[in-house]
Amino acid sequence: MERTFIIIKPDAVQRGLTGEIIRRFEQRGLRIAGLKFMQVERVLAEAHYAVHKERPFYKSLVEYIISGPVVAMVLEGTNAVAAARNTIGATNPADATAGSIRGDLGLEIGRNLVHGSDSVENGEKEIALWFKPQELVSSWERSTDPWIFERR
Ligand code: RTP
Ligand code: MG
Repeated sequence: MERTFIIIKPDAVQRGLTGEIIRRFEQRGLRIAGLKFMQVERVLAEAHYAVHKERPFYKSLVEYIISGPVVAMVLEGTNAVAAARNTIGATNPADATAGSIRGDLGLEIGRNLVHGSDSVENGEKEIALWFKPQELVSSWERSTDPWIFERR
């Protein structure tokens, strides 16, 4: 089963949108495989955003993600990476379509509420960075799974 890594960022937590955001992923059909509430250490934030190290927004991005507690999540399901990014919407909430998390709940790129992995490979790297194996419950069965995943 494909997995993706999600962060409910500090702005979303502060605004009391944690439940609303988890609800949207659950209703999409994605299955929770890991979930934790945490204060992100600077070293973890820098490792997570290492790909953006040379970008002008890197410093403010690190400050943003450590500015308050976050919820880190692993979700699994069919095409989990693309499905989650679709549910999240475009990077800049100004461009995100209505119906997406960023399109419904945000206005600015530096306060865009959620992170979602951009590829299966990066998702697996991010899961390994943020979660210990024993913190995950992978491929458990929901009674609703046959109504969401068509097995042939
Ligand atoms: P994310 O990684 O958070 O899921 O977002 P993304 O793939 O849609 O966007 P990405 O290019 O990976 O950028 C990571 C985060 O950096 C901030 N950002 N600011 N000021 C800017 O031009 C700018 N560009 C990106 C956003 O918080 C974005 O989510
Ligand atoms: Mg990204």
